[in-house]
Amino acid sequence: MAVVEPTELLSLAVELVRKAAAGIAEQRAAAVTSIETKSSPTDPVTAADRAAEQLVVEGLAAARPGDLVLGEEGGFRPVGSEAAPDAVRWLLDPIDGTVNFVYGIPAYSVSLAAEVAGVVVAGVVRNVVTGEEWTAVRGEGAWRDGVRLRGSSETTLGGALVGTGFGYAPERRREQAEVLLRILPQIRDIRRIGSAALDLCAAAEGRVDAYFERGLNLWDRAAGGLIAEEAGLLVTGLRGEGPGEAMTLAAPPALHTLLDELLSPLHA
Ligand code: IPD
Repeated sequence: MAVVEPTELLSLAVELVRKAAAGIAEQRAAAVTSIETKSSPTDPVTAADRAAEQLVVEGLAAARPGDLVLGEEGGFRPVGSEAAPDAVRWLLDPIDGTVNFVYGIPAYSVSLAAEVAGVVVAGVVRNVVTGEEWTAVRGEGAWRDGVRLRGSSETTLGGALVGTGFGYAPERRREQAEVLLRILPQIRDIRRIGSAALDLCAAAEGRVDAYFERGLNLWDRAAGGLIAEEAGLLVTGLRGEGPGEAMTLAAPPALHTLLDELLSPLHA
């Protein structure tokens, strides 16, 4: 089995994410925002999501024909005819922050991560509008445009600016609003940026002190989760669980303990 170099996977990911971001920016400039909805009437998918996913899938198929892609708009599929025994699984959100894209709010990103044997080893998130780009290779730190990231040093709940997000299903939103009612009086404030990948990068950079969200898909959190971890944050679920659909909590260690204690009873 050939050895897969995570830095090479990152280079490929960065190249494809830049191309996809350029295409998305062109579609936005041409006001191509033809919208359909997916899981609920508030969950949009645009022609730009689909075109960006196709561009990345084709690029991966050309460069690494035996690999697999889990993409938000297409589901799980082999890139080539058959998965190779040492296949990398690519985790792709072609536009994370589709609602922002539709409204022209400058906070939407392309997120692409490479997973080997069930472990995310490399990831990149690029803000399509600002061109900011966050990258990480497991064990080699998190970076934004050449600057090493180390997260926030905040240790108190009262001083913590906390990012979060909401799902698309009305019942999930009701639960999330109830959680907010309980935690908002105890923290500095909440930020709802509208792109989970950018939220995780913001936490990696210390632009928010922590981030949590229930209901994330793997493609929303794979690249940003690695970037946050490599910046020194703990990225988990609640009560020692791994990050997943039930909860993704990213915070520096001291704050993580406090947020875990605060959130766990609310998600019992
Ligand atoms: C959504 C965004 C949003 C988060 C939702 C995600 P999408 O992804 O990341 O911030 O709150 O949970 O589904 O639909 O824009 O790719």
